[in-house]
Formats: sequence, structure tokens, C-alpha cells
Amino acid sequence: MNDNFNRNIDYLRISVIDRCNLRCIYCMPEEGIKNLLPHEEILSYEEILKIIRIATTTGISKIRVTGGEPLLRKNIVSFIERASRIEGIKDIGMTTNGILLKKYARSLFEAGLKRVNVSLDSLNEDKFRAITRLGSLKEVLEGIEEAQMVGLNPVKINMVVMKGVNDDEIERFARWSIEVPYQIRFIEFMPVGQNNWKKELFISREEIKQKIENTVGSLIPVQIKKSGPAEYFMLEGAKGLLGFISPLSTHICTRCNRLRLTAEGKLRPCLFSDREIDLKRVLRSGASEDEIRQIIIKAIQLKPQGISSQTKPLRAMSTIGG
Ligand code: GTP
Ligand code: 5AD
Ligand code: SF4
Repeated sequence: MNDNFNRNIDYLRISVIDRCNLRCIYCMPEEGIKNLLPHEEILSYEEILKIIRIATTTGISKIRVTGGEPLLRKNIVSFIERASRIEGIKDIGMTTNGILLKKYARSLFEAGLKRVNVSLDSLNEDKFRAITRLGSLKEVLEGIEEAQMVGLNPVKINMVVMKGVNDDEIERFARWSIEVPYQIRFIEFMPVGQNNWKKELFISREEIKQKIENTVGSLIPVQIKKSGPAEYFMLEGAKGLLGFISPLSTHICTRCNRLRLTAEGKLRPCLFSDREIDLKRVLRSGASEDEIRQIIIKAIQLKPQGISSQTKPLRAMSTIGG
């Protein structure tokens, strides 16, 4: 259905877990997130499947499974399998840090997952480790290759660009798109939760584009239907695409098509607004399907027209799912 600003809301992002096996510097403090949810506060798969089923009756046809790190949740493959069989769901994606992707890619694909977006902020092993604090670049690269090979398509790569941290690799990522069929996205660093966002670390889409055009080549615009928050370009003769996700310097909200469900069952109309609706409480109090449906509709109607770049959500990104 359409929201109050004539945007068609057909996409639900579902965080299935608040835990993560990495500690990316732009997302979490070194010691991890305090107050992780106790098991019983996390929505069960049955509850999530029920919400998806009801959400399809409001026009949701696309879901994305996120975390924390979704591949850490037990029985995630069978959850994907059950979700993909829900009538009305045409597209299921997952956003992952890729550490466990090599192990799971094939079974995820066979279970019905269509595509993956993988966080990858550096192609240098030491820097990758410094940014993620715990990760291994080799594992993620192998996960990405496996995903591509088994048919998860397209594979999207998320690089959060930070000045003085990994902006020296913009050129390298851009050149990589010539060789590989991935959609490599440069993401503006956003202030979310206690993530140490500083103006000095911020590098805008225009600066990133300039760097690429000065050193690698012209960026040719590419139109992709339903491109979400990303805007795409390609280098001449490249196998892959380059995308820009620029929530701070462009107006991505005008084409927002999404609702979010947190691991503890709160519906969030917008990533940047802390307004939430406690769907779990309603669900667990024995509400009827129609009551739940009305709450989903209310969340869609509560979507703000846009955000100010000054707004900073209080919740950590890992508990919202990006
Ligand atoms: P698809 O379009 O389904 O491929 O997903 P996506 O690119 O939106 O998802 P992904 O999880 O890979 O997120 C990529 C980046 O976009 C992350 O930094 C997200 O936080 C950011 N993002 C996704 N949706 C929104 C949104 O509604 N608002 C803002 N500001 N950022 C978003
Ligand atoms: N700014 C921009 N992107 C972020 N992500 C996590 N934290 C931030 C942030 N502060 C990205 C991750 C992941 C996706 C879900 O969100 O790189 O790919
Ligand atoms: Fe984990 Fe993703 Fe946050 Fe990194 S950005 S710590 S991979 S949830």
C-alpha cells in the first residue's frame, strides 16, 4: 500500500538477531553492544512468519533478513525456506557480514534466498581486521565468491567509506568492478546509536565520485528498477556496477519503500526515526490477524516524509538491521 506521501511500501527488513560476530568500528564499541536481548525477547521464527504472512496482505512482497549477523541465528536456512514459501513473497534477500557465507551460501540459495548484500570495507587484510576488529578478509571474499557461484544474484557489496580510514581504497574498489560482476556500493557513514560518528570521518558522495572520475574513469549512469537507496553507475567495459548510497547528501527518502522489524519485534517506520510500534506485545497478547494487520498499516502511515541529517537514531545499527 501507499504511505501518506504516495510511496509504495512493499519491502520489509527483518532483523532476526541482535548479536554479531564482528565489531565494526562504525557500528559497535569494541566490547560489543550492552543489553543484548534475552532469548525470550527475540521474536520466534513462527512469530516472524506470521507477521510476514499478514504483511503480504498490505502489499509487502519483498523481504530482507538482517541482524546483527543473521547467519548466527540457529536454523536460519529453514526459516528462509519457510519464508520463501509464503504466498505473495517475490523476493528474499539477506544482508550479512559474509564471515559464514561460504558455509551457508548453497543451502540458502536452495532454500529460496535470492540475493545477498555483503559488508566489505577494505580489500587489505590488516585494514579489514582493523575496521571489523574480529574479521578475516579471506573468509568474506570466499563467501562472496561462493554466493556468486551458487546463483545468489546480484551480489551487492557494501563499503562504508570513512575519511582517513578506508577512503584510500575507493579507487581499488572502483577498479574491482571492472573485473567482478558485483554491485559495489559506496555508503556514506551515518550517525546511528553510539557509533562514534564524527564530521572529520565523513566523506560525501560527491567527493567519492570525484576521486573515481579523476583516477579511474567516467561514471556512466545506469538505471535499475527498484534500486532502493542506491544510485548506480558503471565504468566503461566493466562487469560490475558502482553504487552510491548517500543518505546524508541526497534525498533518498523520496523513494523509500520500506518498513523495519527489529529482533525484539518493534516495527520502525523509518531507520532515522526512533518512533516504534511494539508489535510483539500485541502479537503475544493474542491479537487477531486483523488487529496485527491494522498495526502494520499504522506503521506505514507513520512513515515520515524525510529525515533531517541532524537526526541520530538512538538504537545501535546492529539492533535495527541497517
Ligand atoms: P536492497 O535494495 O534490497 O538491495 O537493499 P539495501 O541496499 O537497501 O540494503 P543493505 O542492507 O545492503 O543496506 C545498504 C546500506 O543502505 C546500509 O548502510 C543501510 O543502512 C542503508 N539503508 C538501507 N535502507 C535505508 C533507509 O531506508 N534509509 C537510510 N538512511 N539508509 C538505508
Ligand atoms: N553508516 C552507514 N552504513 C552502515 N552500516 C552499518 N553501520 C553503518 C553506518 N553507521 C551498513 C553495514 C551493512 C549494512 C546493513 O549497514 O555496512 O552492510
Ligand atoms: Fe556486525 Fe554489521 Fe555491525 Fe559490522 S556493521 S558489527 S557486521 S552488525
